[in-house]
Amino acid sequence: PRPADLTGLRVLVTAGGTREPIDPVRYLGNRSSGRQGVAVAAAAADRGAKVVLLAANIDDSVLAEVQDRPGVRTVPVGTTAELESAARAAASGAEAVIMAAAVADYRVADVAEHKLRKEDSPGAAPTLELVENPDILVGLVRERRPGQVIVGFAAETVESDEELLERGRRKLARKGVDLLAVNAVGWNEGFERGENIVQVLDADGRVAVAAEGTKREVADALLDAVRDEFRALNH
Ligand code: PMT
Repeated sequence: PRPADLTGLRVLVTAGGTREPIDPVRYLGNRSSGRQGVAVAAAAADRGAKVVLLAANIDDSVLAEVQDRPGVRTVPVGTTAELESAARAAASGAEAVIMAAAVADYRVADVAEHKLRKEDSPGAAPTLELVENPDILVGLVRERRPGQVIVGFAAETVESDEELLERGRRKLARKGVDLLAVNAVGWNEGFERGENIVQVLDADGRVAVAAEGTKREVADALLDAVRDEFRALNH
């Protein structure tokens, strides 16, 4: 077991995938199971942190890992708007923010009051108009408290490790975070499974930590980088 090296830190973790309603029975979503973010929350609590976990549409079987764990308070959220307001509220009382949630970039412009029916658009498939969601992470960076460490994740479908790092560095610059955990995703990578491969970029785009293994092992390696960054910012 690791030492309680995060004692005294309040850590906000987001996990899972936001869902954007189309009508009362349908939504646009993504394949995030929440496993990686839940593993970060569990590891941080085990290392002494007080954790708020914003859980976007995570199955109870995954949440079981933090259900009765001392030091973790779990708050369920559904849409990106709900995640955004919960994240802004919780971030003001956190020394570190770790955004592992897969956030929908777009939502449906006009959510239908009633279930969309085939007979409503006879002979033609309906078209969904989308509008852009706010970038939660960029907003948190803008409103950050002094000394706060802000960590993003980047999920990329790529052909090579070079492309992964290049896309990660561009995202790092766009988001303005202190650390960016870059992972490849695809039909059989990143999402849902128990293992992950992550490279953590620092603000200069250098690989601070590289980790491969269970999502818990990746979480602990990421938290090593968060701890070091927090100490560097607050010495
Ligand atoms: O949940 P699992 O099944 O275990 O899978 C883990 C994971 C692959 C989902 C996870 O490791 C991961 O990569 N999470 C981030 C997924 C993601 O949305 O990446 P992105 O590259 O689209 O977004 C970059 C960052 O900006 C993320 O920190 C995201 O939370 C944040 N973001 C994105 C869009 C938006 N509107 N607001 C945001 O804050």
